[in-house]
Amino acid sequence: MSVIAVVGGQWGDEGKGKVIDMLAEQADAVVRFSGGDNAGHTVINPQGEFKLHLIPSGVFYPHCTCIIGNGVVVNPDIFIKERDELCARGVDTSRVYISDRAHLVLPYHILLDGLEERARGVKSLGTTLRGIGPAFVDKVARMGIRAVDLLDTAILRDRLEYVLEYKNQLLTKLYGEPPLNFDELFEICMGYANQLRGNIKETSSLLDDYIRQGKRVIMEGAQGALLDTDFGTYPYVTSSSPLVAGGCLGAGVGPAKLDRALGIFKAYCSRVGSGPMPTELCDDIGEQIRIRGHEYGTTTGRPRRVGWFDGVAARFSSRINGLTGVAITRLDILDTVEALKICVGYRLNGDIIYDFPADAATLHQCQPVYEEMPGWCQPTTEATCLEELPQAARAYIARLEELVECPANYVCIGPVRRQAIELAPIL
Ligand code: IMP
Repeated sequence: MSVIAVVGGQWGDEGKGKVIDMLAEQADAVVRFSGGDNAGHTVINPQGEFKLHLIPSGVFYPHCTCIIGNGVVVNPDIFIKERDELCARGVDTSRVYISDRAHLVLPYHILLDGLEERARGVKSLGTTLRGIGPAFVDKVARMGIRAVDLLDTAILRDRLEYVLEYKNQLLTKLYGEPPLNFDELFEICMGYANQLRGNIKETSSLLDDYIRQGKRVIMEGAQGALLDTDFGTYPYVTSSSPLVAGGCLGAGVGPAKLDRALGIFKAYCSRVGSGPMPTELCDDIGEQIRIRGHEYGTTTGRPRRVGWFDGVAARFSSRINGLTGVAITRLDILDTVEALKICVGYRLNGDIIYDFPADAATLHQCQPVYEEMPGWCQPTTEATCLEELPQAARAYIARLEELVECPANYVCIGPVRRQAIELAPIL
């Protein structure tokens, strides 16, 4: 098995960092393919606890090459800070590369993210305010500055002049803000160029070499399927594709090279930011799960909304990703819940539907149809195999497998590397 995609199956924060940290032990390369530093992947390993926003979670293994693919938007400040902090903590970052085709998040993107959110008022999306949406807008509008542009001063000057002229019109005329100074911004970009020169590379050919040699490559997703621009709860979505298909595009790997697709699902649901979430729990059980699960955003620190496992959304996610298996994470967070619920359908206008609706307004109206299952009310964190889990926990896992229509490869029962049960290896 040489190429696998690991993607979020829900609204992000499913625990991809932990799973990739675990799998990367056997991988030769890990490539991030979408999003930007809106992502926050927490990794706890013998070297300590790390919160990664841009650098792939394989960085802790010296044998693993880490690539930030063309599909990621890179804020150079965040990258440099993350790289330097890892170095200071003794992590080798000499094999971390940024695709020369990756677009940059520049200061005006962050300004515009905030101004656009403010302008949306009650209809705000609850973005991470990291400039991600505006950077992807520029990419599609053919106004982006890419990593490769940093390598040629004349090209950089020429592109930045043209783009900043337009951005300053927006800032001053639409938002009544002061314009940005070209010389200052150019100086900042030259600083980025000096700092990043050694990291910028043509990475799709590097990955192709690896794949031809039969080396193992992991495509590391960010966010989750329900935040996908096409298939998520539009407009409450992010601005790139967290799907497996987005992985091929955002890493520069042809789809036929992909061997397996692993979807990561929490044993319950969580969401940050605005938008519909049919199984949201606004009661004591929700609070109990939030506290036990430390459900606060890695990037923004916002409390996450939590809810029961949504089988309708999960089956949809499994289908549009073409998952071959799943990892169920954070099962241990449910250890104290006496009675569990799983959503198996939505009640809408007197009917029961089993498909995930296209528009957020309809999803808002959907009432979950629940199946109840007994909790196990005992700790699972020390289990080393499926048989050591309580019968009720095994029944719960089996029901989730039925709903996502594919087998569980892994079950995670705690934040550290060893707290994972392998049911069927994926690599
Ligand atoms: P943006 O990606 O910052 O534009 O935010 C758009 C939506 O995606 C907001 O609801 C964010 O809270 C959500 N979002 C973005 N990144 C993540 C993530 O890594 N985990 C969970 N939600 C995210």
